[in-house]
Parts: sequence; C-alpha cells; structure tokens
Amino acid sequence: MKKNLNAEPLSKNNHLRQWVDKMAELCQPDQIHWVDGTQAEYDRFCNEMVAAGTFIRLDEKKWPGCFLARSDASDVARVEDRTFICSLAKEAAGPTNNWVNPAEMKRKLRGLFQGCMKGRTMYVLAFSMGPLGSPMSQIGVQLTDSPYVVVNMRIMARIGKKVFDLIGEDTHIVPCLHSVGAPLEKGQRDVPWPCNQEKYIVHFPETREIWSYGSGYGGNALLGKKCFALRIASTMARDEGWLAEHMLILGVENPEGEKTYVAAAFPSACGKTNFAMLIPPKPFAEKGWKVWTVGDDIAWIKPGADGRLHAINPEAGFFGVAPGTGNKTNPIAMATLAKNTIFTNVALTPDGGVWWEGMTDTPPAKAIDWQGNEWTPQIAKDKGVKAAHANSRFTAPASQCPTIDPDWEKPEGVPLSAIIFGGRRATTMPLVYQAFNWSTGVYMGATMGSEMTAAAAGTLGKVRRDPMAMLPFCGYHMGDYFRHWIAMQRKLTETPRVFHVNWFRKDAAGKFLWPGFGENMRVLKWIIDRARGRAVAKETPIGWTPHYEDMDWKGLDFSKEQFEELQHFDRAAWRKEILDHEDLFLDLHSHLPKEMIYERELLICRM
Ligand code: GTP
Ligand code: SPV
Ligand code: MN
Repeated sequence: MKKNLNAEPLSKNNHLRQWVDKMAELCQPDQIHWVDGTQAEYDRFCNEMVAAGTFIRLDEKKWPGCFLARSDASDVARVEDRTFICSLAKEAAGPTNNWVNPAEMKRKLRGLFQGCMKGRTMYVLAFSMGPLGSPMSQIGVQLTDSPYVVVNMRIMARIGKKVFDLIGEDTHIVPCLHSVGAPLEKGQRDVPWPCNQEKYIVHFPETREIWSYGSGYGGNALLGKKCFALRIASTMARDEGWLAEHMLILGVENPEGEKTYVAAAFPSACGKTNFAMLIPPKPFAEKGWKVWTVGDDIAWIKPGADGRLHAINPEAGFFGVAPGTGNKTNPIAMATLAKNTIFTNVALTPDGGVWWEGMTDTPPAKAIDWQGNEWTPQIAKDKGVKAAHANSRFTAPASQCPTIDPDWEKPEGVPLSAIIFGGRRATTMPLVYQAFNWSTGVYMGATMGSEMTAAAAGTLGKVRRDPMAMLPFCGYHMGDYFRHWIAMQRKLTETPRVFHVNWFRKDAAGKFLWPGFGENMRVLKWIIDRARGRAVAKETPIGWTPHYEDMDWKGLDFSKEQFEELQHFDRAAWRKEILDHEDLFLDLHSHLPKEMIYERELLICRM
C-alpha cells in the first residue's frame, strides 16, 4: 500500500468527519486522503497518473504543465438518460427530469457503492463554488476515488485546506459522493480510465446531496459543475430568490471606457466559451472596443441592493470544447490553454503536443487519435475517424485567460444589463432579435430550441426544446422554474433587456450564413446599445430587430441582401415553431405560469 501523507482530517467539523467515516465504511477504500489543494499535492497526483498510464505528460517546452488523458470510449460525455432528480414528490421534479423515489434510489445506490472503492483511495475534496468568502458562494465536499477528478476540480473550483477552514460548525455544505465504480481486487491491475457501464448521476434536491456512480467524465464526475452549480443550486435559488443559470458572463468596454455586462444562455456546445472570449474585429478594436471574460458556462445571479441583477461565475476554470478552437476562431482560449492545462480525448502529436479538428487548417501528418490509434489525414478521409472526440475538452485555469475581467472575482458580482438566449438553429431563428419586455423575454427563453450536440450522449442534430439552455440542468419542475423567472421582475427596479441570437443559421446549401466568432461583436454592440437606450430597432411580430443600417459593418463585407436572408422572418417555419412551444407547454401545463399562455396567445395574434 502507498504511504498516505494526508490521512489526518483537515476539518474539525464533526458532521463532516462522521459523514466521511460513514461513506468510507460503505465504499471501503484502502485509504483516505484529505486534499489540501497545494501545488505539491497536485504535482504528485499528476506524476502518479503518468506512472499509472492515465496521464501523458506533454512536451514541457511547448506545453508546460500540460497533460493528456484518454477516457474509456464509453465514457465521453454527460449521460442525460442516467441523470436523476430524486425529489420526494415526482411532481416536484417535473416531466423533463428522470425521477425515482429517493428512498428507493438510496437503496439502489447503497448497493452500488458498497465496496466500490476497494483497492483505491478515497479523496476528501472541499470546494467553494464562487470566490472564497463571497456572500454568493457555496461550499461542497466531494468524496471521490478518481485522482483525475481531483486535479480537474483543482482547476475548476477553489479547493483544499483554505475551503476546509471556511467550514465552521454550522456551515451548510453539499455532500457529493462520487465513484467511478471500479473496485480493484487484490493484485488486480488498474486500467488508465476506470469506469462502469452502469451509470447513475443522482441529485436529492431536498437534502441537497449528490451521488454519482460509474463515470469519470466532465459534468458526470466534476460534481461542483452541473450537478451542484446548476441542478442543486437551481433549487437553492428557487427557495432563496436568486437564479443559477447555464450562462456565460462577459463585459463589453466601449471606446469611452464604459463597461456593460451581459449574460448569455446557449445550450452545451453552442458557443458560450467562444462568445465569452470574443475578440472584436479590427475596426472595433482600433476604436477601443474590448470584451472582458467573467465566466464561460455558469452564472449565479442575485438581485442586488441597487435593484439590478448581479452575477458571479461560481467556477475558477474552463472545461471547454476543444474541436473548433483555434487561433483563427478563439486565440484567447488558445492562450488560456497554453500551459497548466489538462486535455481529455484530443489527439497526441509525435512532438508531444496535442491537436484537434479545427485547431489549425492543416492537420499534422500523423498523430495518435483520442482512442490511442494511429491517425493520419488519409485514415481520416478513408474511414471518417476523427483525431479528437467531438466532445474532447480542455481544463484550464480562468486566471490564465488574457481577457479575464478585473472584477471576475468581485464578491458581489457584476451588474447585468442584458440577458441573451441562443440556440443552434439551421433554420427559422434570425441572427438577433429583442424581446418586448421581461415576460416576453422569459417566454423567449422558455421556448428556446436547439440542435443536440456531442456534449451529451444522444441523437446529434435533432432540434429539441431546451428552455434557457437548462433542460438537462434544472433541479425542479420546469414550469415552476418559469414562474420563478417571471417573479424575479418584482424584486428588481431595473430588469435586464432580453435578446435572442442564432449564430448557426444555414443557407439552402447547408453553409453558415453568418461568419460568427469575432464578428458576433457587431450583434453584441447592437445589444449593448439597445440595453443602454441608444440603438434603433424595427418592430416585428417576434420582437425588435435591427435594420441593416443599425449595425456597424465596418471591416466586414456583408450585404443588405445577406443580412435580410439571415434575419428573414419565415412565417411558415414560425407556425411550426409555435406548435413546438405548445408541445412543451402541454407537458408542463399543470405548473405553467399564466404569463406563458398569454405570451403565446399574443405571439399568435401578432403573427
Ligand atoms: P459547453 O462547454 O458544452 O457548455 O459549450 P459552449 O456553449 O461553451 O460552446 P463552445 O464555445 O465551446 O462552442 C462549441 C462549438 O461551437 C465549437 O466547436 C465552436 O467552434 C463552435 N462555435 C462557437 N461559436 C461559434 C460561432 O459564432 N459560429 C460558428 N459557426 N461556430 C461557433
Ligand atoms: C456542458 O455539457 O454544458 C458542459 C460540459 O459544459 S460538462 O461539464 O460535461 O457538463
Ligand atoms: Mn456547459
């Protein structure tokens, strides 16, 4: 057995220590390690994982402090069909969540967790979602048998001794139990990526607990992220009068130095990280426009004393989609991930570097693909295999982001002037439009649709309703969630303006109509100016839209005809769209706030 340097509890909290003991009794790990969060400890875990074959150290000169992990081929994304909200009443979870009676689920889980950590170490990892000590922050403790999870969590959240120190006798913490579900018999050799074919990602909203079994990947296993900061936090937010949202947060600085913050909800793999790190096109940058990054995935939003909404990023790192990220599309992300980054399921190049589709125009002559097989552009052509998995990711510290906002860790958050909803839609949805008011805005977010992506296991490309990009992440009944959003207005003296964007509309030949990425600045400028009451718009049945002349086109050759195709209001397609809204509303009808019904009627009337 390895010598254990951290067997002594780092917390004096009796509750916590008793829970750790009880869970250790259940899971039967060989040893317990209280994670102190130091660099030395992190380095040791990384070295151990290199020795075990879980990590490959990248070239120290080109990729300092970086590692590559390849997951099991069956453990590559969130598993929505194995994700459960186990509230006491099925009604409380609503029809959009998988539900099992909590007592029955606990029984099932106790069986699965029985002895599940045999031959492994149980890490006790304290983490803070949100800056240490911020009134908006929350603390969790994750027990896990995955060192991969520990090192990723050290990048994604504030962890370790300094968090244990914040846990007083009365501090409420969210207990998170995680196992990859692969106990080792005596003498059994471990595999690089242990996991179990049977997976359970389970939330108990009333007792605010998380139990995750069988997966080591992303949102299934880094429990501070989707499980805590969205599913559990959304129920806390409902009870306490705030919002936990699947949103990026960015700040736009104009040439006069005025800063305007916006939050944007796009579904998984629909452009949040890229939008949060936007580089304005040259003519904008030259004039002094700048975009600052606060967060790229999750926002916790609270009404402030000034009657406005304020947002914090509860995370400390980015778990970003690798494919499509390159110096052309997102140089800020490329700079962020240049060092101290963990790559998962990208390709390994012969010089000890990494590559993925879209990183460069020219692929490397050869590489080892994400499954460990030899890969060449010819093999890609012949067999259609990708070098990197479509949901391959980088885990990088937010502090390394060149555009990180000076106020990104401000305890009280940043004030929001606009909220943007957006999906991945080949048809129907224009580039941008603005809701008439808060309740139309809530309707707009509630009825949002998007094509499914590789971020979750399931059918790719199918349009599904994904209200506020929260379909897989809302910890309670979606109808009640809409009501909570509607009610938020009463707590505010100034509501943010609400917009909808779509970077992904295609022409008849299947080509994107909009160049996207940095060019999204043009849309963002119109949004900021609208929110500040400075830009003109045209009224349409669905909302306010810019005229061609209302947008700044300097530096981009984009004709009025192209813009009109992009903004085209397709009456027949919208008819179908509204029928889809009705489908969702039928599912939610017993909890649907009346504002949603009225808004739908008004939309039909305007049509
Ligand atoms: P999650 O981390 O899963 O929540 O994803 P995300 O919403 O942060 O998406 P991300 O920014 O990582 O983008 C996902 C994919 O969409 C990447 O392959 C991007 O290259 C691509 N993408 C992002 N923005 C744009 C855009 O403006 N236009 C086009 N065409 N593609 C984009
Ligand atoms: C998403 O799927 O929205 C992600 C990745 O941000 S994961 O952390 O796996 O949820
Ligand atoms: Mn996400």
